[in-house]
Amino acid sequence: MSDILKNDLFLRAANGEVTERPPVWLMRQAGRILPQYRALRAKLSGFKELVETPELACEVTIQPIDELEVDAAIIFSDILVIPESMGLPYEMIPGKGPFFPDTVKNAADIAKLVEGQPAADELQYVYDAVKLTKQELNNRVPLIGFAGAPFTIFCYMIEGSGSKTFSKAKKLMYQEPVLAHQLLEKITNTTIAYLKGKVRAGADLIQLFDSWAGVLNNNTFRTFSLPYLQKIATALSAEVPVTLFAKGAWHSLPEIAASDCNVVGLDWTTDVKWARQQVGAKQVVQGNLDPCALYSDADSLKATTIQMLKDFGPHHICNLGHGVYPDTPLDNVKVFVDTVKAFKYDDIAATI
Ligand code: CP3
Repeated sequence: MSDILKNDLFLRAANGEVTERPPVWLMRQAGRILPQYRALRAKLSGFKELVETPELACEVTIQPIDELEVDAAIIFSDILVIPESMGLPYEMIPGKGPFFPDTVKNAADIAKLVEGQPAADELQYVYDAVKLTKQELNNRVPLIGFAGAPFTIFCYMIEGSGSKTFSKAKKLMYQEPVLAHQLLEKITNTTIAYLKGKVRAGADLIQLFDSWAGVLNNNTFRTFSLPYLQKIATALSAEVPVTLFAKGAWHSLPEIAASDCNVVGLDWTTDVKWARQQVGAKQVVQGNLDPCALYSDADSLKATTIQMLKDFGPHHICNLGHGVYPDTPLDNVKVFVDTVKAFKYDDIAATI
């Protein structure tokens, strides 16, 4: 029975089962914090070589499973492969981050973007990386596939890099809403074809990162982000569980929970008990320790983590409230993971 997972805690929790303890993994666990990642990265021409070489992406994906023994792997890649597949190549500038030499400025730029299956077909190296990683993981833990949310990709396509305000992207929303929706629609169609390809290659679960949702308010989020998240969740959740992580979209938690997603991601600014009231006790939620809590001493970190697990109760996948920061002490990452793994809901049943 080669396709049976040895550790299926994460999938059981994502599917709504009450588990003995919450599963634990960290957003951005592949890369950033591990010395073995940095050593490999230093030998290569750049970030894209790692992303585009399935053997290397596979190695980096498995590093945190070996080192941290977390309950899930996330395929090493980037959300920016989608704009590239649609015709806007990205560069990763060391010390600065992503940069797009060409951006979307007008209707003609949107019209010439490739979309849907033809764009997704450009990403064979990702599907190959997923396939190889599934083989190499040998069913130790499930493998998460991911994509950026359409709104976050829209931001990069228009701005060409990160931004404090994303005002160019928001200007298009306010001045040319029809065009903005056309672009979001194209990104959505491509993302669905891409994620289906990842699932065919072996991804056990899908997470969407709406990293820049926090620049929207309740109205603009529900107009320019949520409908597209919903469309992707509906298209994928028939096949695998889907997690929607919209950072900063605390105002729309009930709406996110009402979509076809299985898991609602919470960022660290969201109060756990309040979030539970918003989404209900049985909704599976993921999060949400402040990544900076990993700078505290081991005893405080342990206490904060246990308090969070008690506040969440069951139907929880333990994670940080955003990606782990590059300068986080590895020992503290281990304290965090080991604390969750030693926790049992039964031990605290009387107090939750
Ligand atoms: O979770 C994982 O460990 C899997 C790998 C992963 C990467 N990027 C690798 C990466 C994932 C899930 C992402 C998603 C991603 N990429 C997001 C959404 C998640 C989030 O944090 O909000 C975003 C916004 C990006 C865009 C991006 N890629 C930025 C802004 C940067 C530069 C800063 C940084 O380190 O995050 C990247 C580069 C990148 N993506 C690196 C890694 C390991 C660092 C590049 C390097 O090693 O040179």
